[in-house]
Amino acid sequence: MKKVQITETVLRDAQQSLIATRMPYDDYEDILDDMNKAGYYSVECWGGATFDSCLRYLDEDPWERLRNLKKHLPDTRLQMLLRGQNLLGYKHYHDDVVEKFIELSIKNGIDIIRIFDALNDFRNIETALKSVVKHKRKKTIASGCIAYTQSPVHTVDKYIEMCKELKAMGFQTICLKDMAGTMSPWEAEHLIKGIKDAIGDMTLILHTHCTTGMAYMTLTKAIESGIDVIDCAVSSFSGGTSQPATETMYYAMKQYGIETGLDEDVINKVNDFFKPLKQKYINGGQLNPKSLATDAQALVYKVPGGMLSNMIANLTDMNAMDRFDDALAEIPRVRADMGYPPLVTPLSQMVGNQAVTNVLVGERYKNISKEIKNYIKGEYGIAPAPIDEELKKKVLGEDGEPVDCREEDKKRTGEDFKSAKEALGDLCRCEEDVMSYICYPDQTVKFLKEQKEKAERESVYTIEEIDDSAE
Ligand code: CO
Repeated sequence: MKKVQITETVLRDAQQSLIATRMPYDDYEDILDDMNKAGYYSVECWGGATFDSCLRYLDEDPWERLRNLKKHLPDTRLQMLLRGQNLLGYKHYHDDVVEKFIELSIKNGIDIIRIFDALNDFRNIETALKSVVKHKRKKTIASGCIAYTQSPVHTVDKYIEMCKELKAMGFQTICLKDMAGTMSPWEAEHLIKGIKDAIGDMTLILHTHCTTGMAYMTLTKAIESGIDVIDCAVSSFSGGTSQPATETMYYAMKQYGIETGLDEDVINKVNDFFKPLKQKYINGGQLNPKSLATDAQALVYKVPGGMLSNMIANLTDMNAMDRFDDALAEIPRVRADMGYPPLVTPLSQMVGNQAVTNVLVGERYKNISKEIKNYIKGEYGIAPAPIDEELKKKVLGEDGEPVDCREEDKKRTGEDFKSAKEALGDLCRCEEDVMSYICYPDQTVKFLKEQKEKAERESVYTIEEIDDSAE
């Protein structure tokens, strides 16, 4: 019997896409024991923006959240998303920091680490992979992830080459990550058939978003074409900028006799639990109904929705909305000059801003942003296609060569841990705190100070209580 499994994303990507990752652990703790019995391939619950959001907005220790998740989901693979050498952010960390982060993630309960690089420069995911291999436990899976995009150089053959490379590197599964939700059913069919032919029985996963309305059709074609795992979200947190619905895909596949391993009663119970939560977030304003709508603009303009609204906001600020069409037409040219990077954060903003600048200044690349200069210098990695020669000369000089972005990363000096420990002083409780500080210093200090004050207040109360009882 044909088998297609489902990863449930409500605890990570679905809530990140719909309510800016503001779902506190306490809101969903009561359903976790049931989710453990649902039969998901995995539950994506950590990484991405959840770590930052815990510390910054929710007054939660992300590591404690992970340990709690593991406690309630002992039989389910817990999954996280990791941005390779950038861990959960946008700057490169040293290799020893990357390794420690992965060691601690596994130790605290993560089973599947999905690793990607925004440019698909796989040198940037190599250290993360090696660290998983070094610290892995029985259930641990290193999943190599490709950021999906469309461009003249992103052909089916190129994606097949990428998959072969990930397989050769030692990844156990491969995920296609369509963050903008622009993969069409036709593209899914050709891509997945081609990849499955090339990589044999290695597990292939598709991650997409409903943003443009393509996702259900795309998943249907993906299933016909041999996909092994699809990412879905419980129906109350599905659609719009989130994933297609778990229960819907379950019923659709069931009629075809495709085995999902899911327990129908449990997945419905999970939805019954999240339904009122969704209403709570709508009432509280965290969930803007706009995120639940279909927006096909990304297909028309070939730029992700977020990038478009960002550009409109910038042009409006500068009182230059009359140049909108020119700026829009400039985006693909800038992207081509830069070697067709996938339009994902932060590259989407960089390309968009440079296009606006080129149009408003009236001369292309008269002003070049610092970020674009760094990109051309090679600090983000190698571009998918060669960068425009003229532009390269302008930034690097006549004989300038790009830098190797991995050069600095490789320094395993332990310096980052030492200075983090010093900065935290007596706020530091464990290795995990040190790691939180390295990733998000200000938020971690603020969080740990609050924790300390809370503990002190509580100990005062305890003493008073003892005094009362003594009298
Ligand atoms: Co996503």
